[in-house]
Amino acid sequence: MSDKQENIVWHESTITKQERRKQNGHQSFILWFTGLSASGKSTVANALASSLFEQGKQVYVLDGDNVRHGLNKDLGFKEEDRKENIRRIGEVSKLFVDSGQIVLTAFISPYRKDRDLVRSLVGPEEFIEVYVHCSLEECEKRDPKGLYKKARNHEIPSFTGISAPYEEPKDPEMVLDTEKYSIKQCVESLLTELKQKQLI
Ligand code: ADX
Repeated sequence: MSDKQENIVWHESTITKQERRKQNGHQSFILWFTGLSASGKSTVANALASSLFEQGKQVYVLDGDNVRHGLNKDLGFKEEDRKENIRRIGEVSKLFVDSGQIVLTAFISPYRKDRDLVRSLVGPEEFIEVYVHCSLEECEKRDPKGLYKKARNHEIPSFTGISAPYEEPKDPEMVLDTEKYSIKQCVESLLTELKQKQLI
């Protein structure tokens, strides 16, 4: 153990997670969106957040591109950096769950073991993996930021789907196909699922 971790004792919060959930009138959990760049993770997460917000729920979106401007701006796209990116987001998400909120995360999170690590940080009802499925071909066609084009031209190294791997979830709680269904339809099916699970 490093000297930094010595003499640190956990301090229990005065307000419990259960009390916060009760006041908010809903459960708190992580909806973990994973998928290729341009698959629609952030778009779906933000659309769902708007709908939940309108219903008076406490909800927040953590988005890869945004978090990499601040908390994770020291990280790049090597496997080790992505691992640390996801580990930190996992810990932050856990704090959101403890604060009684619904947290929607939109990160490529290409490695199965990194996603499973986040799953292991919280309770079984608190982590819902949502695979935002969209073929590489379609993501490349969309290419909203021109990054696939750059990756094909070798201007960006280790680009997911082109020169870095994406490990598909084996048993996600939900799969959304953004090639077949509209954003509105995806949001509807998420809301139905959350209601069925009695999370909202
Ligand atoms: S993750 O792999 O570590 O989960 P994250 O979701 O935070 O990635 O960031 C992905 C976003 O960074 C992409 O949507 C894209 O806009 C941008 N990006 C820049 N370089 C890369 C790269 N080499 N691979 C994937 N995405 C990249």
